[in-house]
Amino acid sequence: MNTLDQLVYCSRARLAPEQADEQVADIVHVSAFRNAQVGITGALALRDGVFIQLLEGSPTALDILMLHLHFDQRHDDIVVLARERIARRAFPIWGMIAPRNAPSTAVALDALIAGRSSRLDLWRQAMAGCLAAASPQTEALDEGGVISRLSTRSRQAV
Ligand SMILES: Cc1cc2nc3c(=O)[nH]c(=O)nc-3n(C[C@H](O)[C@H](O)[C@H](O)COP(=O)(O)O)c2cc1C
Repeated sequence: MNTLDQLVYCSRARLAPEQADEQVADIVHVSAFRNAQVGITGALALRDGVFIQLLEGSPTALDILMLHLHFDQRHDDIVVLARERIARRAFPIWGMIAPRNAPSTAVALDALIAGRSSRLDLWRQAMAGCLAAASPQTEALDEGGVISRLSTRSRQAV
């Protein structure tokens, strides 16, 4: 069986206000393409200037991605909050989530962000809840912080 790790990190967004939507859209598209190539799945959220990303894949693929992320000037202050070996993926597709559409789960997400929680199970729950609540067809960004769901493309590719 292939070894799988799951991690969650947070970072501070360094997006130019007038280009934020464009920059996030670029991150989403590049990530969907590259993650599919290396077998990484997960979810990304942007809440009040903080990126939260839950990633799962082979330990090597995750290490390489984290290296790229450290050099990416669209964010800084990257802190890996938790990392664990997992038996199976919690996120079979990769997408961004829109907490705006999921008030109750967004509250949970915001609380985890505020506390910089190291509980991967809680992050999984909150991120999955937001993803489930987001419209599957949405691929637009808004000032509420979110998101897109890259359903078809990512499903095919992963
Ligand atoms: C918050 C954030 C999340 C990102 N997530 C991913 C990701 O999941 N997968 C990915 O390949 N690139 C992701 N990127 C982009 C990478 O940092 C990097 O730009 C991309 O992998 C291309 O790397 P390269 O320019 O060195 O070729 C993300 C960037 C940011 C700012």
